[in-house]
Amino acid sequence: MEIIEKIEILRNKLEVLKKSGKKIGFVPTMGALHDGHISLINCAEKQNDIIVVSIFVNPTQFNNINDLTTYPRNNDKDIEILKKTKCKFLFLPSVEEIYPDDKSKEIKYNFGYLTTVMEGKYRPSHFDGVALVVSKLFNIVKPNNAYFGQKDFQQFIVIQHLANYFLSELNINVIRCPIIREADGLAMSSRNIRLNNIQRESAVLISKTLFEAKEKFIKLSVNDLKAWINDKINQDENLVVEYIEIVTDPDLIEITDWNTKDKIVACIAVNVGDIRLIDNVYFN
Ligand code: PAJ
Repeated sequence: MEIIEKIEILRNKLEVLKKSGKKIGFVPTMGALHDGHISLINCAEKQNDIIVVSIFVNPTQFNNINDLTTYPRNNDKDIEILKKTKCKFLFLPSVEEIYPDDKSKEIKYNFGYLTTVMEGKYRPSHFDGVALVVSKLFNIVKPNNAYFGQKDFQQFIVIQHLANYFLSELNINVIRCPIIREADGLAMSSRNIRLNNIQRESAVLISKTLFEAKEKFIKLSVNDLKAWINDKINQDENLVVEYIEIVTDPDLIEITDWNTKDKIVACIAVNVGDIRLIDNVYFN
């Protein structure tokens, strides 16, 4: 595995490989790697000749400065993990490399409704930062395929929109991979390592409640089910639900009854102390 910090160097190396007909698979991350990230690399391995992983804790997508400063970073450990995978190039740029000046932060895409609900509503400007950095990374790597997790369901929908409508000339296939969970059901997340033992025990209630809701959903109205989920999780003194929404895939329309032909996804954000966790479960 080669570690590359400079855009130009990565670009040149990939250009040569592309000219020789190699297929490039790309897995963007913010590091603190876990099995969820590795699952994306494994998925990419099957469909590409060369795998590029990026690690960049993107400041423009954090709407909360505390979340940015406490975001787990451990490059040495991540490098050891990646060496055991099929990752060929690790792109590890500095903030200055990606954002050399204020002008480089100015591009803004309009995703309309897709970024006004759920995460977009509670983390204003978050998706502006995600789309900005992903568009820069896509333009640097120009992969054939790029891999994202269902764990960040709304992010996946937004990035798919970005690739299909705003960056269509790059011809990138955006591929969705399933959520990887701990043995007890908690969705893997880089933020989980910040949970203390008590918080970690409480956090399992998030996925447990969503899975229970999936079993009983048709018996209750949408609003009653949302209230049930909300109350059940909030009963734990360590957990505070920020939102629970039940939406369609891929349009993110908040449903009011179960009469839809679309896939239905229950999406939740919960604060565990100052650690914010998200999860989602398909109902059908
Ligand atoms: P990060 O949170 O590091 O996640 C990188 C990728 O791993 C995302 O596509 C995310 O959905 C996926 N992922 C995280 N946890 C997962 C899990 N438990 N199962 C499956 N996939 C999982 O998402 C970001 O970084 C950033 O917003 C990024 C896209 C890199 C832009 O900065």
